[in-house]
Amino acid sequence: MVINVKASKSYDIEIGRNLLDKIGEDILSLKSACNVCIVSDDIVYPLYGDIVFKSLKRAGYNVCIFTIEHGEKSKNLNTFSEIQEYLASQNFKRNDLIVALGGGVTGDLAGFVASTYMRGIDFVQVPTTLLAMIDSSVGGKTAIDLPNGKNLVGTFYQPIKVIIDLKTLDTLPCTEYKNGMGEGIKYAMLMDNELESIVTNGVTCSTNVDRFVELCIRYKKYIVEEDEKESNLRRLLNLGHTFAHAIEKLSGYTIPHGVAVAQGLKIISDISIKQGKLAQCAYDKLQTLLDRYDMHIDEDYSLEQMLEVIKLDKKAEGEYINVVMPYAFGDCRIEKIKIEDLIK
Ligand code: NAD
Ligand code: GLY
Repeated sequence: MVINVKASKSYDIEIGRNLLDKIGEDILSLKSACNVCIVSDDIVYPLYGDIVFKSLKRAGYNVCIFTIEHGEKSKNLNTFSEIQEYLASQNFKRNDLIVALGGGVTGDLAGFVASTYMRGIDFVQVPTTLLAMIDSSVGGKTAIDLPNGKNLVGTFYQPIKVIIDLKTLDTLPCTEYKNGMGEGIKYAMLMDNELESIVTNGVTCSTNVDRFVELCIRYKKYIVEEDEKESNLRRLLNLGHTFAHAIEKLSGYTIPHGVAVAQGLKIISDISIKQGKLAQCAYDKLQTLLDRYDMHIDEDYSLEQMLEVIKLDKKAEGEYINVVMPYAFGDCRIEKIKIEDLIK
């Protein structure tokens, strides 16, 4: 299946199984032979690097590899500059290509490198986590973290193609599957349709996953085509993220992004119901989903601790912050709220 996104670049998202072996021919239809750097991590490359490397070689590309240590700790300025220097040492030019093979960390980092090396070279996203398939590989947000907070440096920069091989989910650990479902529950709350019933019925790598991935991507495509640079509508995709980013940072990034998003959904729903906005039946439905996917964490950060981090959030404007307030499944609204009032 192919879904086309028409943003500042028009590009295809190909979804299927066993696509890695033909990645070289696939890309050849977009770019003639050039230098290609596969950026991947030290868990994903041993699993899927060889098949991608060989396919690109067969298609006539000159291929090199840059492997990062897995995990959020690599999404930083050091790794960013190491990759830039590696590309320069390999004589990469403006018409060369980066292939990001891995989860959201690899995609965000490699995308940011691609958007800045020689003022921008092409890149292809090959997401291998559920989270990256349904969210981070689509829509062109690239970023790295600073010690002060998450995703504080980045660009909007669309890939030239996204290749989603659902077969790679076979090796994804359950904890990472659960992590993807944190963003999945977010989409279910934003949409209230078939997606919500799929998430309620259960998504595993053998059940419902194809349709689940497709529906999330179709929703994201709609949002990105309407508001690529997040001037308004795209803010909806940040549902649960204000608290999620604070929780990730306070945990020293030991709580993964998707699980933190699920906690963020819980906190913003608690606030919304206290303010008389969220319907009780929607609140109960969310709790059921959080239970179903076992989205509870042991750490309990105080609102004051989170407030300190939230003040540094990109979405903060002085004393105010734009939050996405849930009223019902399928009815979430962007509201500008005083940060102090969130805590009250
Ligand atoms: P990740 O990239 O760290 O991957 C999670 C773990 O799974 C890693 O250890 C990785 O090695 C492993 N892994 C990946 N694919 C595998 C596979 N097929 N089999 C076995 N192991 C595999 O994390 P993630 O959850 O994919 O992404 C989180 C990141 O995405 C965060 O930095 C977050 O900020 C970012 N994000 C970005 C956007 C965006 O729009 N750009 C949206 C959501 C999240
Ligand atoms: N993950 C939020 C966005 O892409 O806008």
